[in-house]
Amino acid sequence: MKKKIDTVESRKKIGFPDKRADWNKEQAIYDEHTLKIDGHPVMEDWETGYMEKLAQIVTLQGGDILELGYGMGISAGFIQANKAVKSHYIVECHPDVVTKAIADFREPISLSKMHILSGFWQDITPKFSNESFDGIFFDTYPLTEEEIHGNHFWFFEEAHRLLRPGGVLTYYSDEATEFSANHKIKLRTSGFHEINFEVCKVNPPADCEYWQDNTIVAPIIIK
Ligand SMILES: C[S@@+](CC[C@H](N)C(=O)[O-])C[C@H]1O[C@@H](n2cnc3c(N)ncnc32)[C@H](O)[C@@H]1O
Repeated sequence: MKKKIDTVESRKKIGFPDKRADWNKEQAIYDEHTLKIDGHPVMEDWETGYMEKLAQIVTLQGGDILELGYGMGISAGFIQANKAVKSHYIVECHPDVVTKAIADFREPISLSKMHILSGFWQDITPKFSNESFDGIFFDTYPLTEEEIHGNHFWFFEEAHRLLRPGGVLTYYSDEATEFSANHKIKLRTSGFHEINFEVCKVNPPADCEYWQDNTIVAPIIIK
């Protein structure tokens, strides 16, 4: 049997930008199935079914939706398709990706059904008032070694501040079958106590550098 790729080591080998801002100096390279930035496998379209599931979860209440990370815009398309969504704000840091988002969604943007905010979430989301959103979908990409398989942990407190009571948080979970104890502690210490998930079947290619399992957790976290 072929040895599984170590998805932590493979990303360490590619290396990370010295500063967060340096990520934006590298070209974003799209092909039909993938997005690569600075040699990193940022997004691949084998995730489409998973993105659809996460889009269903984040729109459970309809209303005002915040999405972090545009990537290939797969989840954005599913969120837009939901008629119960009133507003859809997307925060994306990379200038090439922002350009692609504007080209992909020209019409909904012109109708103010979608708003693209260009920048790092760390600089942008503090500008939103408390309890601004009914659903939040977090799917950025680790930009440092310590964030590999856990970049969402740094966002949990901010997500709790931004959600209305009863609002839903979901995210690319980086776990195959269940939440780790550490993951649940991070959610609880950020104020979340209604913690549920579904397990989604996926079929990544054998040479995928960031996911090697046939399932992935779809979080359903309610404030
Ligand atoms: C995995 S992709 C998002 C995939 C998307 N859900 C889709 O369906 O195609 C991650 C995106 O997050 C962006 N990103 C990384 N770090 C970010 C940050 N701190 N703030 C905002 N965007 C970030 C990357 O440039 C990339 O476009």
